[in-house]
Amino acid sequence: MRVLGIETSCDETGVAVYDSRQGLLGHAVYSQIPIHSDFGGVVPELASRDHVRKLAPMVNALLSEVQATAGDIDAIAYTAGPGLAGALLVGAAFARSLAWAWDVPALGIHHMEGHLLAPMLEDPAPMFPFVALLVSGGHTQLVQVTDVGAYELIGESVDDAAGEAFDKTAKLLGLGYPGGPALAALSRHGDPGRFRFPRPMTDRPGLDFSFSGLKTFALTTLQQQSEQTPPAGREQLRADIARAFEDAVVDTLAIKCRRAIEQTGSRALVMSGGVSANQALRARVAGLMQELGGRAYYPRAELCTDNGAMIAYAGWQRLRAGQHDDLRFDIRPRWSLQDLGSGG
Ligand code: KG4
Ligand code: ZN
Repeated sequence: MRVLGIETSCDETGVAVYDSRQGLLGHAVYSQIPIHSDFGGVVPELASRDHVRKLAPMVNALLSEVQATAGDIDAIAYTAGPGLAGALLVGAAFARSLAWAWDVPALGIHHMEGHLLAPMLEDPAPMFPFVALLVSGGHTQLVQVTDVGAYELIGESVDDAAGEAFDKTAKLLGLGYPGGPALAALSRHGDPGRFRFPRPMTDRPGLDFSFSGLKTFALTTLQQQSEQTPPAGREQLRADIARAFEDAVVDTLAIKCRRAIEQTGSRALVMSGGVSANQALRARVAGLMQELGGRAYYPRAELCTDNGAMIAYAGWQRLRAGQHDDLRFDIRPRWSLQDLGSGG
């Protein structure tokens, strides 16, 4: 079975074809970053309009690349939420119309389920049960996963998501949007011993996170230190703050992952979402799982951030579980992962 996946929840247009026997046949992601960067963040209306422009040509190009025609596609999976309402509507309407024209089923997929299952596109793929750390621009969650659709939320951020904290801290350090990759690059030049930021909520039990205080800590440090730093030392100061911030986020996530693994007795930790592209976090979590006698799984970097492949794959898993949506379609800009059933 071949599933066409369509992702338009935010500022990336993603398309992919997943084949249940051969795996991922091809995927393409178009990033809208240049469109939004002048504004320092995503402008929802511009995002919707650009998805309208890109979707049809991208699907056409992908089908020729994987040497498939409309007749080779058995189902279409699209992101139904959570995300920006207008952007979601473009993908949903496009996918539904195409499915109707091609006379194949269409399925609305939860964006975070896409992220959660994305590591299963890799070899070796994690097996159920596992603990998933989902770290994106909008979510930071620890999820106990026993099967497709069986997701128990065991921890989440009470304020900013990890990616959001990266983006906001990057902005105050004068870096562009999206800040995560830029901050990580700057941090490589930073001195790890100069500043130590707090590890929020690690001194009390539980698996929840809080990241909003770290950006305030970064801001205060920047303001205090800038006054005492000659202009020649300012670049190093920014790098040192970036390093202290990244170390604090990575450490905090690792501490909670250790707790989640110990609490659940799981031997596998799956990490996904944009922030899981972060090299320091990947290395740290891999080391932690090795120490605990288990294993960490994460997708290649291009499948950590938003993409159509994870939606196509989740669509296939849902079809396999017997899910059938009717011709009406809803988008769900706010949607909890725990509300998903097994789909049958
Ligand atoms: O999953 P994603 O592409 O979109 C959402 O569903 O939100 O995640 C985007 C987030 C942004 O906050 C971005 O700054 C962050 O992931 N990100 C990173 C890195 N690459 C992307 N954060 C830290 N280090 C990175 N290398
Ligand atoms: Zn995402």
